[in-house]
Amino acid sequence: MTGVVADNAQRDTVLDVSLVRKNFAGLVALDGVSLQLGRKEILGLIGPNGAGKSTLFNIIAGTLKPTSGTVTFRGRNITGLPPNRVCRLGIARTYQIPKPFLDMTVLENVYIAESFGSGRDSKVGTPAEICDLVGLKDKMHLEAGMLNVSGKKRLEVARALATSPDVLLLDEIAAGMSPTEGEWAVRFMEKMSQSYDLSIIWVEHVMRLLMKGVHRVVVLDHGVKIAEGRPEEVVNDEKVQQAYLGGKLS
Ligand SMILES: Nc1ncnc2c1ncn2[C@@H]1O[C@H](COP(=O)(O)OP(=O)(O)O)[C@@H](O)[C@H]1O
Ligand SMILES: [Mg+2]
Repeated sequence: MTGVVADNAQRDTVLDVSLVRKNFAGLVALDGVSLQLGRKEILGLIGPNGAGKSTLFNIIAGTLKPTSGTVTFRGRNITGLPPNRVCRLGIARTYQIPKPFLDMTVLENVYIAESFGSGRDSKVGTPAEICDLVGLKDKMHLEAGMLNVSGKKRLEVARALATSPDVLLLDEIAAGMSPTEGEWAVRFMEKMSQSYDLSIIWVEHVMRLLMKGVHRVVVLDHGVKIAEGRPEEVVNDEKVQQAYLGGKLS
């Protein structure tokens, strides 16, 4: 067994992204990115604008096909499967810009998400229980369009949880939330991960917040992984500091 394999086995790898490349016409958005996500791990994915974070989420979730490379989920090659299949297998995502059905109620939105999910009973709870969990109990019967930004982010999380995921991809859920709500998001994700056996990849620009909430960080820059490690190691990494042009991380 090589060192890498042994490490993966130890961490009980749930998701394995291997040498993923994505070309858009002349642009290389991802240039051979590899990362592993362990069971119940919360992994931060950071990098300057245009680094390739959302592209990587799109490839894992099946919205985009990679030019080359593989995505393996619980030992199964899922590279290039369509999003509905990937979601049914147990990978859920939130969108940077929430996309609820605005003229349906919060609760109806969560019901619809549940029907896209694994088909099993949701391990997290009924749609009403999930609304309660994310703090939307008293807004359940409002139209989703009536929610403020923070409420819409909470609904994104509720919709993702309703699909009964094993892996959750969070794209900037704390952006647009107040600092207090951001703290809530960190505690909430930790709890979800432990209670429901969830592994999480979390993209967030609110760096101070993200650093509290994740076990490990992967840094992308121009489609290349430039650093990986514990949050406190990564923020002090010279290449990472340079990628962010001096001190924006602290
Ligand atoms: N559908 C697309 N067509 C062409 N270029 C794209 C597309 N999606 C993303 N890109 C480009 O790929 C690069 C990475 O983008 P993205 O993954 O959105 O970065 P991030 O989420 O880290 O800000 C950027 O240069 C972006 O302009
Ligand atoms: Mg993005």
